[in-house]
Amino acid sequence: MRILGLESSCDETAAALVEDGTRVLSDIISSQAKVHERFGGVVPELASRHHIVNIMSVLESALDSAGVSLDALDAVAVTRGPGLVGALLVAVQVGKAIAFARDLPLIGVHHLEGHLSAIYLNASSPGAVPGTPHVALLVSGGHTSLIYVKQRGEYLELGATRDDAAGEAFDKVAKLLGLGYPGGAVIDRLAKTGDARALRLPRPMPGKAELNFSFSGIKTWMRNWVSENGVPTGQALADACASFQHAVVLSLVSKTREAVKRAGVTDVQISGGVAANSYLREEMRRAGEEDGFRVFVPPPRYCTDNAAMIAAAGYHRLLKGERSNLDLNAMANLPLASSS
Ligand code: KG4
Ligand code: ZN
Repeated sequence: MRILGLESSCDETAAALVEDGTRVLSDIISSQAKVHERFGGVVPELASRHHIVNIMSVLESALDSAGVSLDALDAVAVTRGPGLVGALLVAVQVGKAIAFARDLPLIGVHHLEGHLSAIYLNASSPGAVPGTPHVALLVSGGHTSLIYVKQRGEYLELGATRDDAAGEAFDKVAKLLGLGYPGGAVIDRLAKTGDARALRLPRPMPGKAELNFSFSGIKTWMRNWVSENGVPTGQALADACASFQHAVVLSLVSKTREAVKRAGVTDVQISGGVAANSYLREEMRRAGEEDGFRVFVPPPRYCTDNAAMIAAAGYHRLLKGERSNLDLNAMANLPLASSS
């Protein structure tokens, strides 16, 4: 089954063709990061406008690079939420138009289920993906949570952030350090040559019983540090990045370890934009070796927003016989549990 995936929930306009929920035939992403950079965050109205301008050429590129026309499609999957409602609407409308014009099945996809499905893209063998049940650490710019994946499509939230998402904390601290937007990947790169013990940041919510996260304390500590010491440069900048990243990753890994113990599972997946973080991947693998769980992480390209993951999630729901109607609407807020 060849599915067209469409995604426009935040600042990436994306279209992809995926066969049987795993084989990626094409995967086009047009990022608006440059548009929003000078504002230090995504401006919703600008995001909607740029999606409108870009979506047709992104769609054409996805078809061209797969070497097919709309005739070759078997279904359309589109992100219906959560996200910026005006942004979401663009891909939802295009998806509905194609489904209507070509009389194709349509499926609305939960953005986070998309992130959780990225692990199945181009998976070489059944052993390359986590078994069920497993624990998923979902860390993106808008969300941070620990999820018990009972089976594909059945989720239970074990914990979530009480304030900022992990990616949001990376982006805000990157802004403080003058590193531009979005700054997660820049901090990751600079931290490689830094000393993680240089600054002694607080450990957020260290209580073992607690599976929730909090990153605003770390962010405020960094803000105070910068206002006392000025914006660091050179080695001091690398040290600040490494120390901040260490504090965030320590919290993500220790809560995941606790969730794995409680859930009694042997497999963990990390998904969402922050899953591209090299230190998080390393530290989670190390924890897995110590505690005896396996760690699965999509390649960095599929960690951040893309449409291939939306097609993969849509495929699974279509197989179960689910369909969306042409009155499908974009939802700014949408709990994962009600994602069908
Ligand atoms: O999943 P995503 O593309 O968009 C949302 O759904 O939010 O995640 C984007 C987030 C941004 O906050 C970005 O700074 C962060 O992922 N990110 C990273 C890295 N690459 C992207 N954070 C830390 N290290 C990275 N290498
Ligand atoms: Zn996302």
